[in-house]
Amino acid sequence: MSDLKTTYMGLSLKNPIVVASSPLTANIDNLIKCEKAGAAAVVLKSIFEEQINSDALSETTRNAEYLALSDYQEVFNNIAKDYYINQYAELIAEAKKQLSIPVIASINCTHVSTWADFIQRFEAAGADALELNYYPIASDKDVAGKDVEKEAIAFAKAARKATRLPIALKIGYKYSSLANIIKAFADEKIDSLVLFNRFYRPDIDINSEKIVGMSGLSSSSEYSESLRWIALMAAEITSVDFAASTGVHSGSTVIKMLLAGAKVTEVCSEIISRGFDAIPTMLAEINTWMSTKGYNSIADFQGKLAQENMVDGAHWERTQYMKNLQNS
Ligand SMILES: Cc1cc2nc3c(=O)[nH]c(=O)nc-3n(C[C@H](O)[C@H](O)[C@H](O)COP(=O)(O)O)c2cc1C
Repeated sequence: MSDLKTTYMGLSLKNPIVVASSPLTANIDNLIKCEKAGAAAVVLKSIFEEQINSDALSETTRNAEYLALSDYQEVFNNIAKDYYINQYAELIAEAKKQLSIPVIASINCTHVSTWADFIQRFEAAGADALELNYYPIASDKDVAGKDVEKEAIAFAKAARKATRLPIALKIGYKYSSLANIIKAFADEKIDSLVLFNRFYRPDIDINSEKIVGMSGLSSSSEYSESLRWIALMAAEITSVDFAASTGVHSGSTVIKMLLAGAKVTEVCSEIISRGFDAIPTMLAEINTWMSTKGYNSIADFQGKLAQENMVDGAHWERTQYMKNLQNS
């Protein structure tokens, strides 16, 4: 058996497979299944900024009659909010009690102000790290790209100030200069970047004429943007760890991400589709490949094909086909 150990934002992991934030990590039964299947760490299902606010609001609405008679609206709002935050802190605490692998809390957010005051509760509950799913959609025609990026960097700075936990930022790739903003996040002492989040995709049902969501699951061919950007950045910006997310469906894709320079991969759709057994299948594939290649540890090949480590790394920057098909 090869040594699959890796490190990720200061955490020692037994292998490079982390279960991504999703329903797979939303309750203790599933979290135990993740560990039993061999996952090296789990990122809990996110607590959503909007959810905290709207759940608090709906609790308040349900009790509107009572509240109309009282002047405790503000207090009640905070109690409802507190309830959901405590539930999440309890999940962290229970996961820490029952699992021996690292537990990463996750917040889906665009404003630090919504969670900075309750992050201490997640720290106290024992979270090993924090993943922030940060996705501002630049849909305001009056806001220039540089201002969107300025706000993202201010967010990273404020997040760093808010907690001593290692922070992973899970981001998208639609920035005008992705390389530059990755460097800016690193300068703000963010510990890890998760490249990339796969966003909710709206669609339209033409019969009902309603907005619906497309399938939330990725396909196995969707990993190329993550692979490209990890390869471009990993050996150039070494103060952050890179985690690969989106389209990691097999052991061979995990190997590709590691060769490109990722420290870990986050896996979701493959496990939802095939069950928790997908994890040992992927680990076995990595093991077999390492034995065939004569690699004893992940460190033997991690980052080998990152752009900076290659004589001809320009392939990672190529955007045009010189030949379309082999025989044309
Ligand atoms: C049903 C579902 C729920 C998800 N919920 C979250 C979430 O709460 N927070 C988050 O950061 N990502 C969430 N994700 C995104 C996944 O963590 C992951 O980044 C994405 O699915 C891409 O990885 P994959 O190709 O392995 O599926 C969710 C994905 C799915 C399919």
